[in-house]
Amino acid sequence: PPTPFTDLLPPPEQMWKEDSAHGLTAPIGEGPHGRPVLLTLGDYPPHALIGGPSGTGKTNLIFAWIGALAARYSPAELEFYLLDFKEGVSFARFAQGRRDPSWLPHMRLVGINVNTDREFGLALLRFLAEELRRRADAAKKHEVTKLAELRAVDPTGHWPRIVAVVDEFQALLAGRDVVAREAADLLEDLARRGRSQGIHLVLASQDVRGIEALWGRPALVAQFTLRIALPKALRILAERNDAAQALPKYHAVVNAESGMTEGNEVARIPSASDWETWSELQHRLWRMRPADAAPARLFDGDAVPRLTDAPDFRALTPAAGDAPPRGPVALLGEIIDVQARSAALRLPRAPGRNLAVLGTRVDEACAVLDAAARSLARQHRPGAARYSIACLDPDADPAARALYEDLADDAAWYDEETVPELMAETTEALGRPGTPATPHYLFLFAVDAAAGALSRGTGGRSGLDRLRRILHDGPERRTHVLAWWRGVARMRADLGGPAARTDQIGAWVALDVQGGELGSSLYPGTGGPDWYPRPWRGLFFDRAVHRTGQVIIPYGPSR
Ligand SMILES: Nc1ncnc2c1ncn2[C@@H]1O[C@H](COP(=O)(O)OP(=O)(O)OP(=O)(O)O)[C@@H](O)[C@H]1O
Ligand SMILES: [Mg+2]
Repeated sequence: PPTPFTDLLPPPEQMWKEDSAHGLTAPIGEGPHGRPVLLTLGDYPPHALIGGPSGTGKTNLIFAWIGALAARYSPAELEFYLLDFKEGVSFARFAQGRRDPSWLPHMRLVGINVNTDREFGLALLRFLAEELRRRADAAKKHEVTKLAELRAVDPTGHWPRIVAVVDEFQALLAGRDVVAREAADLLEDLARRGRSQGIHLVLASQDVRGIEALWGRPALVAQFTLRIALPKALRILAERNDAAQALPKYHAVVNAESGMTEGNEVARIPSASDWETWSELQHRLWRMRPADAAPARLFDGDAVPRLTDAPDFRALTPAAGDAPPRGPVALLGEIIDVQARSAALRLPRAPGRNLAVLGTRVDEACAVLDAAARSLARQHRPGAARYSIACLDPDADPAARALYEDLADDAAWYDEETVPELMAETTEALGRPGTPATPHYLFLFAVDAAAGALSRGTGGRSGLDRLRRILHDGPERRTHVLAWWRGVARMRADLGGPAARTDQIGAWVALDVQGGELGSSLYPGTGGPDWYPRPWRGLFFDRAVHRTGQVIIPYGPSR
């Protein structure tokens, strides 16, 4: 009979008793003579590659390994970061859920349905690179070189071993673009230097191409000396080692010698990933968690975050006293990052502090402007700011109306007929001496549709002239435009034609706009950013703070 998962676990009273200073060792299954086959991560071998065709049990093996480790080492000794690029929610159970309030106490981050959000994989690698630097600095300060030594000289420090697991990692390296290149560079650096600092990488892939993407970097692959091949796995073991070809179902070749035949050990892997089997262990460990343990951050590429759940939104409060805040921030969406942070546009009294949302996607554009308005409103007491909302696209009406109603007495509503009045009143206010004490935010939905109404002149100036004047002179006088144009060319036309300057647009969010359209004067360098539009994602660029664009996830509708 197959070994049960519980065979991989120590008895309950022995749980969390191991010390990870020199490495992490746990059984993964049963060998030919009933002896457990052990997997070790440490100075040698430091990192693992798992391979096998679809359905051979890679994800199950990851569950079994994580369980065997998590039962032996406490969260102070071991932390996990886990990313799954494929569809499927199986790893979600490591984080706190609606159905099951437990979580795996060692888990710091779970990314599921990452799919095309390769920036999230990049963010994890950058985060680990930063942790690597922090550890290397601490080691240097204590004049040691390795994690075991650092822990000996700094016994009160928090230096757990970190295991970062990336399932279907080939997705991260797919595409020959800047994301893939940076990911490969970071992986290479982490693989080379992570070993001595207790940062271990476990990469799993069914796809030979993923492995081959690595094969182009022999220095990187050479660091992954622990190889785990499931039945019929290709290229995980050394070239003439075909032990995986004849493996029975649910077995694995475990090889800690870079796949050389002499290192082969065959293990029968228990079933670990079904709900009941797994959750029994997780519940036990969850009940053992330290009092201050927090659940893992769950990033779900298929979920739409909510503004009201965002820590940065909750932290906003009105400025003390009567003075308006010096640098109010407009939150625009969630950044694709290890922490759930908001992309924030600062609106101090300085030239260019306006926002353009660019593209034809109505829901996304409304979501960005809505989050901006609601976050600004949270920083002003009632009566301490004005919000003018102009909506020129009937499809955006429900969202703009809901915002208008929620902003209540501080908001005014404009449409195609009345938008010229908004421009006239606002420029008139800018003409008065002194700086108004009350900020004025203009939210213009589909403003390009107003071009006709605004091109008619009154009093010698057209509404478009006035809009340009507001964009140009407003921000220094607490008057900021946050406008959605349904295309870059339309925005340029409103600003004065294809060659018009765009420095009054200090920041933008691009939706379904190709990177190439964002070149010349909107983005540093030539040719525009590497941006491929995708549903419910935007590229945010603030020329005052960014060197490159930042991918954001708009917050879901507030109602
Ligand atoms: N050792 C095992 N014992 C019993 N059942 C297993 C074992 N390993 C995997 N299974 C079962 O086989 C199925 C496929 O396993 P799993 O999802 O781990 O494969 P995979 O290699 O990750 O596939 P994919 O590449 O499609 O993600 C699952 O239903 C799982 O429960
Ligand atoms: Mg899988």
